[in-house]
Amino acid sequence: MVPTSHPRPPVPLLAAVVIATALGAGAVAPAGAVIAPAFSRPLVIPAVLAASNITLTAKLADVQILPGVKTRMWTYNGTFPGPTIRRPTGQTTTVTLVNNLPAAAGELTLHNHGNHSTAENDGQPDDLLAAPNGGSVTYSYTATEAGGNERGAFQWYHDHRMDVTGRNVWMGLAGMYIIDDPADPQTLPRGAFDVPLLVADRSFDANNQLAYTFNAAGVTGNRILVNGVPQPYFNVGDRKYRFRILNASNSRSYDFALGNGQSFIQVGTESGLLPAPVRRSHILVGPAERVDVVVDFARKLGQRIVLQNLAADGSLRQVMQFRVVRHLTDTSSVPARLRALPVLDATSAATRTFVFGKNRFTGAWTINDQVFNPNRIDASPKLGTTETWTFVNKSGSNHVVHIHDVDQQLVSRNGVPARPYERMKESWNLGIGETIVLKLKFTDNLGKFVFHCHILEHEDAAMMAQFEVVP
Ligand code: C2O
Ligand code: CU
Ligand code: CU
Repeated sequence: MVPTSHPRPPVPLLAAVVIATALGAGAVAPAGAVIAPAFSRPLVIPAVLAASNITLTAKLADVQILPGVKTRMWTYNGTFPGPTIRRPTGQTTTVTLVNNLPAAAGELTLHNHGNHSTAENDGQPDDLLAAPNGGSVTYSYTATEAGGNERGAFQWYHDHRMDVTGRNVWMGLAGMYIIDDPADPQTLPRGAFDVPLLVADRSFDANNQLAYTFNAAGVTGNRILVNGVPQPYFNVGDRKYRFRILNASNSRSYDFALGNGQSFIQVGTESGLLPAPVRRSHILVGPAERVDVVVDFARKLGQRIVLQNLAADGSLRQVMQFRVVRHLTDTSSVPARLRALPVLDATSAATRTFVFGKNRFTGAWTINDQVFNPNRIDASPKLGTTETWTFVNKSGSNHVVHIHDVDQQLVSRNGVPARPYERMKESWNLGIGETIVLKLKFTDNLGKFVFHCHILEHEDAAMMAQFEVVP
């Protein structure tokens, strides 16, 4: 299929979009919505879908986010976040996206972020779309890679429509996706003690409706939601818990820490378990990045421990609160060895460099001085080969590099060999002036895939490029 072409106005001319108004939900007032004190509502765990055939229906729903008037959101199956999809590795899952949103939402596409998907199943931004008022697309995920099972991973799914991903995700089109892998050690906390947390900021108008105005610099909210609840509390027992934390915010980064000074035991990234656990006192998580941590509440009975964001002040610093309210016997353990990383070829079939920049005349975000053009391919790696890609940030702003489909490992950050906690990932924070060197292995799937900044407004402002895996 031929992608539609996207003539792009210079970034400053991109129209501001106020969604609440577009949907007739009333004018957006600058005044703040009803404020509930922090830690006044319990955490909600999204429903889990575990069947091999899943339907995600994008539809309007009135969701109780703030006290008082409900918030009209664009949801998957009526909730925000959407249901958590949880599937065993190596088994095929089909996900049918049905677009029951009104015409104002436009066409949708679903991307399983972090998955090893074929090009047709990857949720192309501009192709194979679900039209509003009932259009649908069925995606198939085999959860296999290079002749084996995909590694257990904490993925997520979200809309990926060209130019409007930021708006669509902000309105609610996001959910979590866990691949369970029997090859991972099974002694880590499980069941009710394995808790996925989707962290996202949002702003609301005086009528509790979501307010979104496109801004190519990135859109941030003034409320922090965890699994859709503003600054929730979570009752826990005095034992170990596994928290899989996803930053699903459009552009906000979090520097997570525990308010009592305790360290996290990091066991994984978005791409699965680390070779060995790493103690970390704080963890920077940019948009789309995930971190898989164990927190031990042993000997903390009666305490209240705040999950903080050290990168913000005031109310925005308080993400959620753990209340250690009961005694529980802990049978879980964190093994000293978790899982070896796959060994990537020492030699590279090609080396490429991508500079994340900003056009000094138009202000546009660029990759190698260019904005996205769906008809341009920037790299054509050969199937089965391994390449070395260097990303350099010369833009004066933070970015998050996200590369679809392929296995990737960090070689170095700013010339320093990769730290053990960020060897294997697929969304990479690229701070101002930083350089990261990655190895990428192109297995199984031919065809076109995108890579882009995952600050969603940067992506929508065309900070995106394509590679095509060729035979
Ligand atoms: Cu969350 Cu192109 O991806
Ligand atoms: Cu992705
Ligand atoms: Cu960016």
